[in-house]
Amino acid sequence: MTVSVLTIDGPSGAGKGTVSRAVAKKLGWNYLDSGSIYRSLAIAALKQAADLEDEAAIADIAQAMVLEFDCGDDLIVRLNGEDITAQLGLESTGNTASIVAALPEVRRVLLQKQKDFKQLPGLVADGRDMGTVVFPEAQNKVFLTASAAERAKRRYKQLIEKGIDANLAQITNEIEERDRRDMERKTAPLAMASDAFYIDSSDMALNAVIEEVLNLIQ
Ligand code: DC
Repeated sequence: MTVSVLTIDGPSGAGKGTVSRAVAKKLGWNYLDSGSIYRSLAIAALKQAADLEDEAAIADIAQAMVLEFDCGDDLIVRLNGEDITAQLGLESTGNTASIVAALPEVRRVLLQKQKDFKQLPGLVADGRDMGTVVFPEAQNKVFLTASAAERAKRRYKQLIEKGIDANLAQITNEIEERDRRDMERKTAPLAMASDAFYIDSSDMALNAVIEEVLNLIQ
């Protein structure tokens, strides 16, 4: 039986997570947050004080890590039995994830772990290379983006609301640097699949984006 797959790719802070979770919930489909796999690897590598440029060492850590995802209302992630949810969303985790994600051997090791999420009744997969590399066969593909300035503003607001001290200029710089690294790497760079539907959410409410994606599927 064919399993329906919807891929949502795009740069960090475009709203992929919120949109993907809402769409998956509405359709009753499974959800893959592929960024959380790279983020978990970043946490594992930092814990072991591994050299982030040592491709073989980082790939070994990726191979050995046991991840458990509890996909209730709030996602809980365990790495080798330890709850790492609180560290997953940190800026430092995202930046390190982007560094280890550029290593080809790491991406090779993590490919099957991601493909395993394709289960009935369907899958919403969120990331950078879901429609191009991991699920090129997906029936529905979206490329969701927004201007770097708008993404930085959203991230800044999120942090301030959580009571975390933040600096808009620094966040903008980090977002631009991460975009560059994710787009310029040789293996599976952030790119729009030729058969993807393009959405620029800079001037859109997230609810409107969710509606647009649901319309695409129906
Ligand atoms: O989506 P995110 O911000 O949680 O992703 C964190 C980093 O992981 C991102 O900067 C690049 C990497 N990543 C990737 O290379 N491929 C994916 N499919 C998802 C994330």
